[in-house]
Amino acid sequence: MTLRTLESLGSLEGRRVIVRCDLNVPLRDGVITDDGRVRASLPTLNALINAGARVIVCSHLGRPDGAPDPQYSLEPVAQRLSELLGKPVAFARDTVGESAREAVSSLEDGGVVVLENLRFNAGETAKDDATRQAFARELAELGDALVSDGFGVVHRKQASVYDLAQILPSAAGLLIATELDVLDRLTENPERPYTVVLGGSKVSDKLGVISHLLPRVDRLLVGGGMLFTFLAAEGHGVASSLLEKDQLDTVRGYIAEAKERGVELVLPTDVVVASGFAADAEHETVAADAIEQSSFGASGIGLDIGPDTAARFADAIRDSKTVFWNGPMGVFEFPAFAAGTKAVASALTEVDGLGVVGGGDSAAAVRQLGFSDDQFGHISTGGGASLEFLEGKKLPGLEVLGWQ
Ligand code: 3PG
Repeated sequence: MTLRTLESLGSLEGRRVIVRCDLNVPLRDGVITDDGRVRASLPTLNALINAGARVIVCSHLGRPDGAPDPQYSLEPVAQRLSELLGKPVAFARDTVGESAREAVSSLEDGGVVVLENLRFNAGETAKDDATRQAFARELAELGDALVSDGFGVVHRKQASVYDLAQILPSAAGLLIATELDVLDRLTENPERPYTVVLGGSKVSDKLGVISHLLPRVDRLLVGGGMLFTFLAAEGHGVASSLLEKDQLDTVRGYIAEAKERGVELVLPTDVVVASGFAADAEHETVAADAIEQSSFGASGIGLDIGPDTAARFADAIRDSKTVFWNGPMGVFEFPAFAAGTKAVASALTEVDGLGVVGGGDSAAAVRQLGFSDDQFGHISTGGGASLEFLEGKKLPGLEVLGWQ
């Protein structure tokens, strides 16, 4: 079965359409620091507005504990949405209560309301099916149809993502359709050479994706905090760098499997080692097999790939036809340790083929480092969701929309 599309819902004029978006954006002191996910929701919202629907936007933000918590309010997001849509957007101070019902009943055709954070309600994320379904039924009372467009959350079996889609007539929005189009190109006959670049702090977060991708890729490039577990698995000391000792055997297995399959596993040859974890920490570049010999001795901590590694990674990326990148190469939030991530992002903009930035931290990194979205083949809005998709997992929020 294929995904149910917007057209399958028929005419939406005058109908109350709930749109499940992923507007989980990073906020600092109540200010949105990266509005990529709000922008990504615009095509579907504009399509519904133009179709004359009464648009009811819902989303989670952060991980509040099933009760209202002002720091996770969606109000700043509703304001940003209003600016981007160029029209007023109402805001309901609760998700399914009186404020929500009133705001929905005041909507005109083509009007938009944002409901308060779904996760202010324990039913949204409840593990117990009946509790989740009860909350989904409350949500369903607000609308006549559901458009599911929060790609970043399709890997979660949650009330608004999964149960609600079984109660109301439901279809996928344009963002989910676009994301799947691109991710499909990574899994079904990708153009070769196919290179995957993995970074981020923990190997344990990437186990599924590494085992699923090893039989499929031509090259695997490893940077970020997880590189130290790979170096340690090869017998090198890593001083005080991030190390997941309990993953050493698994990583040794990956190294052996890569060799057997003829996958080029590209590990760092040099790293930037710092005196501590701080933006202004003293630092120097050392060979990847000499981390313990840095001036900082046993307290040295690796915070970025070195320039030689960055150049080799960039060459491997530019020389590929398909590239998927997930996870920063270093602590890019500190300018002194952002060079590796910048080099990878820059090479990705030059790929003569499909270059995909896989959500979460990597998407925030490219924007923070001054790149614009249109320089890349695609920037996914889903971090965990895109990884789980590439792991070949069944995602509840897609299955419920007919995807198999
Ligand atoms: C994300 O940021 O990856 C999505 O919004 C999902 O958020 P969650 O991991 O809190 O479910």
